[in-house]
Amino acid sequence: MTLGVAADSLSSGGTLLGRVGDDDALLARAGDRFFAVGAHCTHYHGPLAEGLVVGDTVRCPLHHACFSLETGEALRAPALDPLACWRVERRGAMVFVREKMSELPPGPRGSAGSREHPSSIVIAGGGAAGLAAADMLRRERYEGPIVLVSADEDPPVDRPNLSKDYLAGEAQDDWIPMWPSDAYAQRHIELLLGSRVSSIDPGARTVLLENGSRRDFGALLIATGADPVRFPIPGADSMQVFYLRSFADSRAIVERARTAKHVVVVGASFIGLEVSAALRTRGVAVDVVAPEHVPLERVMGTEVGRFVQSLHAAHGVVFHLGETVTSVA
Ligand SMILES: Cc1cc2nc3c(=O)[nH]c(=O)nc-3n(C[C@H](O)[C@H](O)[C@H](O)COP(=O)(O)OP(=O)(O)OC[C@H]3O[C@@H](n4cnc5c(N)ncnc54)[C@H](O)[C@@H]3O)c2cc1C
Ligand code: FES
Repeated sequence: MTLGVAADSLSSGGTLLGRVGDDDALLARAGDRFFAVGAHCTHYHGPLAEGLVVGDTVRCPLHHACFSLETGEALRAPALDPLACWRVERRGAMVFVREKMSELPPGPRGSAGSREHPSSIVIAGGGAAGLAAADMLRRERYEGPIVLVSADEDPPVDRPNLSKDYLAGEAQDDWIPMWPSDAYAQRHIELLLGSRVSSIDPGARTVLLENGSRRDFGALLIATGADPVRFPIPGADSMQVFYLRSFADSRAIVERARTAKHVVVVGASFIGLEVSAALRTRGVAVDVVAPEHVPLERVMGTEVGRFVQSLHAAHGVVFHLGETVTSVA
């Protein structure tokens, strides 16, 4: 790409995959403008050459993160980090990819002084939403204190991985946190882990934490996500029953799967089936119990549901459908 590419070889919205030095780069055209950015999504390395150029953005084909072609900035989750960007020069009928541009200064689009801002922000919830909000506040040059309060014991993690590669033993522990541990201090974000907000006093602008301490806020963002449905049946609080939501939950299942020979998975939708596949990868026998007659039928229809079921069955998963668990002994 540094040697030049014929401008006409790309139509508007088109992309070309190539190399710039040691890097894979994507040359993209939007109208008469050309851009060169890193070729791989900063979320999970998705191939941006197979994504969509929309205006002056590119969308990842895997989980639809959106990046500015002009600056490389991650405009939409799940990606948070920017793409590398190169200067592109057009000379007559040719375009040349030149030097790499330096990283974006924080907050290129915001202007902290131009609007009224809260004196401080408390974010309740240390999931993807809470983290993305804290990240964007800093990128938009919000300079006041930000406190991220999370009931989880771990810093924000890539939760979807917990039922997939991590559970299957194919992803390492250090791939799971969304940010390196020093990134919070670098961005002046205070992280309160293992801290559950137990009540909010909007009048006094204070949250009360379960440990009895209080935090004042100028603005409060509630990003507390969802919890798995707990079983209201006898035996459900047994040590043999595991729920999957947090990194700690997934670690506990991994630990138990080292010695378990046989697992019953309750639920035959996405997470139940992912867990089944991951445990089969570990050589554990898996029975799936679920009230529906076809897995995933509600979201994907009967035909696709049956197909997915057959794939899991071919890998040794035994289904007990149209059934529900009434007790655990
Ligand atoms: C195992 C698993 C696999 C998944 N796989 C996929 C997938 O492949 N694709 C996909 O699109 N989605 C997937 N999801 C769903 C995805 O993870 C969620 O949509 C996403 O996590 C939602 O993010 P969130 O920040 O809104 O909430 P959450 O991730 O639920 O985070 C909520 C946070 O709030 C905290 N919290 C709750 N109550 C309080 C309180 N009172 N005080 C303080 N903190 C509190 C929690 O501890 C947690 O940190 C998966 C989910 C799970 C559990
Ligand atoms: S790999 Fe690109 S959004 Fe996930």
